Amino acid sequence: MKKLKLFTTILAAAFVFILSACGTSKTSGGDGDKDKTLRVVTDAAYAPFEYQDKGEVVGFDIDFINAVAKQAGYKVKVEHVGWDPLFVEIKGKTADIGISAITINDKRKQTYDFSVPYFLSTNKIMIPKDSPIKSAEDLKDKVVAVQNGTTGQEAVEKLLGAESKNLKKFKDNNLAIMELKGGGADAVVADNTVIEEYVKNNPKENFVIIEDEAAFDKEFYGLLFPKGSKLKADFDKAVKEVMENGEYAKIYKKWFKVDPDLTEVKA
Ligand code: ARG
Repeated sequence: MKKLKLFTTILAAAFVFILSACGTSKTSGGDGDKDKTLRVVTDAAYAPFEYQDKGEVVGFDIDFINAVAKQAGYKVKVEHVGWDPLFVEIKGKTADIGISAITINDKRKQTYDFSVPYFLSTNKIMIPKDSPIKSAEDLKDKVVAVQNGTTGQEAVEKLLGAESKNLKKFKDNNLAIMELKGGGADAVVADNTVIEEYVKNNPKENFVIIEDEAAFDKEFYGLLFPKGSKLKADFDKAVKEVMENGEYAKIYKKWFKVDPDLTEVKA
C-alpha cells in the first residue's frame, strides 16, 4: 500500500513537471520578459524581404526586425518555418512574432494582432514580355500562379472565381515563379516589390510587370502577434522610433538603393 502511495506521488510530481515544462515552452518571451530570446518566424522565400543566403535568413524584414527588437530592448532569433506554418505558430503561441511581408487586413485581424504598419505594398502582375495580358481583367481566361494564402490569391480569386481550375496555388512564391518560367502559368500575381526585384535581377528571363490600381488595393505590412500579445505596445513604439531615428532609412537604402517615402506608411 505504501509503495502504491509513493508511486502515485511520483507520478503526480512527474505530471506537474511535464505540464509546467509545456507551459514555458509555449512562448519564449511573449510575456514581456526581456531576458528571454523571442522566437520570430518567417517564410524565407520572398526576396528581398526574407530569403536564404548560404543557409542564413536575410533580407529587409530581417534587418528591420533586428533593429526594432534592439530598440525595444528584446533579443530575437529569426527562423524560417514557411508561410502557412508561420500563422499556425503565432496562433498557437509557439512563436512570439511573425515577419514576412505580411499584409495587415481585417480577416487576419480577427485572429491575430498586428503592429503599426511599416511598408507600403500592392499586388502586381508578372508576365512574359510577349504576353497579350494588359490588365487584371485579361487574367480572367488565363492560368495564374500565386502563393497559397496570400492577398495575391485573394485578389485573383475575385477575378477568376475561387473554384477556378486556372488558379494554381503554391506553397511559396518562388514555386509560383517557377511555374510561370516553365510555361505552366501565364502570369504570377504577388507583392510588387518582390516581382519587380525579380524582373530587375533576371533580365535574361524576359518578364515584365504590370500594374492595375483598379484591381489591386494598397496594402501595408505589419508584424504579426498572437492575439492579446503583451509585446505589441513595446514593438509599436519601437517601429515608430526606428522610422524616426534614421535606422529605417539606412536599412531601406541598403536593400532598395533609394530613400524611403514614408508618408503613406505613417499616415
Ligand atoms: N503581402 C502578402 C500577404 O500578406 C504576401 C506575403 C508573402 N510573404 C512571404 N514571405 N511569402 O498575403
